[in-house]
Amino acid sequence: MKRTRIAALDVGTTKVCTIMADIAGGSGLRILGVGIAPSHGLQKGLVVNVNEAKESIRESVRKAERSAGFKLESAYVGVTGRHVSSVNNRGVVAITRNDQLVRGEDLKRVLEVARSIKVPSDQRLLHVIPRTYIVDGQEGVKNPVGMHGFRLDVETHIITAGITSVQNLTKCIRGVGVEIDDLVLEPLASAEAVLTDEEKMNGVMLADIGGGTTDIAVFKNNSIYHTSILPVAGHQITQDISVGLGLAFDLAEEMKKKYGNVLPYQDEKDDADKTLTEDGHSVSYRDLSEIIRIRVEELLRLVVLELPRTDYASLIPSGLVITGGTANLPGIAELGRQATRLPTRIGIPFNLYGVSDTLSDPAYATSVGLLVWKMNHQDTQTWQSKSGANGFMSRVFRMFS
Ligand SMILES: Nc1ncnc2c1ncn2[C@@H]1O[C@H](COP(=O)(O)OP(=O)(O)OP(=O)(O)O)[C@@H](O)[C@H]1O
Ligand SMILES: [Mg+2]
Repeated sequence: MKRTRIAALDVGTTKVCTIMADIAGGSGLRILGVGIAPSHGLQKGLVVNVNEAKESIRESVRKAERSAGFKLESAYVGVTGRHVSSVNNRGVVAITRNDQLVRGEDLKRVLEVARSIKVPSDQRLLHVIPRTYIVDGQEGVKNPVGMHGFRLDVETHIITAGITSVQNLTKCIRGVGVEIDDLVLEPLASAEAVLTDEEKMNGVMLADIGGGTTDIAVFKNNSIYHTSILPVAGHQITQDISVGLGLAFDLAEEMKKKYGNVLPYQDEKDDADKTLTEDGHSVSYRDLSEIIRIRVEELLRLVVLELPRTDYASLIPSGLVITGGTANLPGIAELGRQATRLPTRIGIPFNLYGVSDTLSDPAYATSVGLLVWKMNHQDTQTWQSKSGANGFMSRVFRMFS
């Protein structure tokens, strides 16, 4: 059986996660090695100290290599941060050949037209994703190759990223001897790991609430509709606890993870009045929960405001899926339902085999998703070849070099 080795490198604001895996025949993803290290030198998803970031990446890569028993050559890498922006753009070309048959080269041409948007000089195209094709006004065509027509339109989702921000990240990774197979926008990766096909078809919003950023992706009709990155996440919750209760940041983080609950009154009523003691510091459970709830509620409202349309019920009937480390906060799905009035669930990576126990946690949605992205986009470079359910998504351009 043909086995293909692949790897993912998720350089997050709080942790670096390296996963080494293989794709064995049609049996899915088998995890061979995982390396997780605390992250230093990053803020809000961006490298702010190259040497510190490099050391964290090195530690994570070495751990993964030790557990897999072989060396990591190259990996799929996640990109996030405020420097990322996205836009939907249309392209149109005429089919002038005598037979009026749409061919692969027409797809290439129409995507060339769609991607010719004005990109600021400090930005580069990261992804140009065809969302849907229109042949002579007939909408919703997923793969127009072989159809007859005079006119071919394409709707694309275009994502650009800041050149220097990406260069800082790639420099750190190459600096530890790992080559980059491809750069993938983090919410697109997370979506691959936690969303179902049905949700993506009906319409769904994904919020990956990590340490430094909240990464958002909206899917409709099985294609990406909107992406955005908010520079607010778990770090701000901890900061609020630290300031509000007069605790050092590390202690506030520990308290949040150990006792944090956005809806404490769901449990026994008396619980709300108890006092928590950690490291000689006492705080009221009620105060701790209140601080976390206020920040998370505000964040969830900000997330929904990112939706490009206000008819939520028809745009995203499958509602909101929350993932990322902060999704571990007890009560967050219920608070999501209350704050957004949308069906809300927690997204945890699924369909994993091998040494994957640690990865069944929302914090690893991006890391696992980078591998699934590769599996679902095998023909990234030969983008006109594949058809079928994921065919149009697989015709993704890679233009960062
Ligand atoms: N049980 C928990 N309760 C509350 N918060 C938690 C819990 N577990 C983890 N977190 C929070 O999740 C955040 C880290 O999430 P994650 O690992 O997804 O971030 P990251 O990928 O390193 O960062 P980013 O993607 O933002 O660059 C931290 O703020 C951490 O405090
Ligand atoms: Mg992350």
